Amino acid sequence: MAFFSDKEMVERIVQLKKKHNAIILAHNYQLGEVQDIADFTGDSLELSMIAAKNDADVIVFCGVHFMAETAYMLSPRKTVLLPVKQAGCLMADMAKGGELKRLKARHPDALTVCYVNSTAAVKAECDLCVTSANAFDLVRALPADREIIFVPDMNLGANIMNATGRKMILWQGFCPTHMRVTAEMIAARRREFPDAPVIIHPECSPEVVAMADEALSTGGMCRYVKSTGAKQVNVATELGLIHRLKKENPDIVYIPLSEQMVCPDMKMIRLHDVLQSLERMRYKITVPEDIREKAVRPIQRMLEESARLSTGR
Ligand code: 13P
Ligand code: SF4
Repeated sequence: MAFFSDKEMVERIVQLKKKHNAIILAHNYQLGEVQDIADFTGDSLELSMIAAKNDADVIVFCGVHFMAETAYMLSPRKTVLLPVKQAGCLMADMAKGGELKRLKARHPDALTVCYVNSTAAVKAECDLCVTSANAFDLVRALPADREIIFVPDMNLGANIMNATGRKMILWQGFCPTHMRVTAEMIAARRREFPDAPVIIHPECSPEVVAMADEALSTGGMCRYVKSTGAKQVNVATELGLIHRLKKENPDIVYIPLSEQMVCPDMKMIRLHDVLQSLERMRYKITVPEDIREKAVRPIQRMLEESARLSTGR
C-alpha cells in the first residue's frame, strides 16, 4: 500500500465513509487517532444503543470483538467491520457457552446475567445482559426470590453484590488490565494528591473499589468529570479514556492510577487499519443466525430495561 500521511488517511476515510454510507464507532479506550476520526466515541452501553439505531449501511467498530459482535446481533442487516480481527477481550474469552450450560444445569431456578463483555455463545445462554453503566440498577430490579448466576466478571459481580445486597453465583473471570490496581496504588495516590477524587471502573477488585470515591463506567466517568469542581482527578481505568477526558475538559489534570493500565487489544487498531477496513470491507463480523436469535434477547432486554429505569452510571 502506498504511504499516506495522517491527514491524507483522514481525508480518504471521510470519502470512503460517504461512499459506503458508513459510521465509525470507537470505544473510549481506543487510541486518540482513532477516537478523533470516529463519529461517536463512548462506553459499551452507548455504543450498543447507537448500533441498534442508526441509518448507516456499514458500522466500522473500533473496539474489541464482543462489541462488534453485539453491534451485528442488534443490526444483522448491516455490515459490521472490526478493523483488526485479532482484537479480542481476554475476560470475554474466559467463559464458554458449554461450561455455562453445565453451571446452569446445577442451578435450574437461577436467572443468568451476563456482562456485555462475553461471547455470543455465552449471551445465548442468558436471561439478561448488562454493562458497567447499568449493571447495578438492572440487577437490583430483578425478582428478589431468584438466585442469580453472573458471568464472566467476578469483580464486577462482587461489586454488584456489595452495592445491592443480592447474592450471586460468580463466574471466576476477570479483566487483566483492571486486576492490576492494588490498594497500595490507591493509597499512594491519595497521599500524593489528597484533593483529587479517585474514580474507578467496577471491573477492579472490591477491595480497591471500596477505597475509591466513585465506581463508574467509562461513560459515567466522562459525565462525572464534567460536573466535578475538582482541579485534579485520579483515573483508575484503561489509559485511553484520558484522551477523551482531556479533550472534553482540558482544564482538569488527570492522574492515571498506573501507567500499566493498558488493554493491549484496545490498542491494536490504528488509523491505517480503519482506512484498510473501509477500503477492503474487512473484517466482517457475523454470528450464526441460530445463536444470534437467542443471544440478542438478553441484549434487547437490557436496552429496554435500561431505558425504562433511565440508567447510566
Ligand atoms: P465500559 O462499558 O465502562 O466502557 O467498559 C468496557 C470495558 O471493556 C471495560 O474494560
Ligand atoms: Fe476486556 Fe479488560 Fe480489555 Fe476491557 S480492558 S476489553 S475487559 S481485557
